[in-house]
Amino acid sequence: MTFRTVYHTATSLDGFLATPDHKLDWLLSRHADPDGPLGLNHFTANAGAIAMGASTYQWVIDNDPGPWAFDIPTWVFTHREFPSFDDGRDIRFTTGPVDAVHKEMAEAAAGKDLWIMGGGELVGQFADHGLLDEIIVSIAPVTLGAGAPLLPRRLELKTEEVAHNGDFACVRYSVVPEAAASSS
Ligand SMILES: NC(=O)c1ccc[n+]([C@@H]2O[C@H](COP(=O)([O-])OP(=O)(O)OC[C@H]3O[C@@H](n4cnc5c(N)ncnc54)[C@H](OP(=O)(O)O)[C@@H]3O)[C@@H](O)[C@H]2O)c1
Repeated sequence: MTFRTVYHTATSLDGFLATPDHKLDWLLSRHADPDGPLGLNHFTANAGAIAMGASTYQWVIDNDPGPWAFDIPTWVFTHREFPSFDDGRDIRFTTGPVDAVHKEMAEAAAGKDLWIMGGGELVGQFADHGLLDEIIVSIAPVTLGAGAPLLPRRLELKTEEVAHNGDFACVRYSVVPEAAASSS
């Protein structure tokens, strides 16, 4: 099986990844079984590289001062200067372009899946290049009214799998390639 490029995330019902001030209390206060249906552990077991934007990385720095949570090469898209780490974590800062970085990620992942962690605009940049295969989303039972957008693009999707995990409704979608979407 070939590798997939996947946006695996959680969202509020009204399509936000975080509050306007980048808080995730509405998410972290809720229960999900990481080994349950469409749970994170099934996905991370076969993920070989991560990409994220600067705000997401800032959240990781602010909230996860210990060893890197996911021990795989990670690309951080940013124009900012972040402090470096000396604990062996493989973090590569980049300004893109996303198609070149996607190639580097695929080489590093050696056949494993690529995890585009977010935010939504960065995921959109991969989708703009036809480089997004799947979206796996856990929908929290909350609306936020405003915040960081889930995915500010129009994409055609096919529903592949639906599950109930703890407090969340979880859906796995495949991205319909643009040519197929525009011919139907
Ligand atoms: N609910 C969840 O499961 C989940 C998942 C992921 C993230 N989050 C949260 O959602 C929020 C996302 O924040 P966000 O919408 O601001 O998105 P983000 O992607 O985390 O950060 C956006 C920033 O990344 C940098 N960036 C993006 N694309 C770039 C490119 N091609 N080249 C260089 N730099 C680039 C830019 O910052 P600079 O130019 O300033 O460097 C941009 O302002 C965060 O609070 C995060 O913690 C939640």
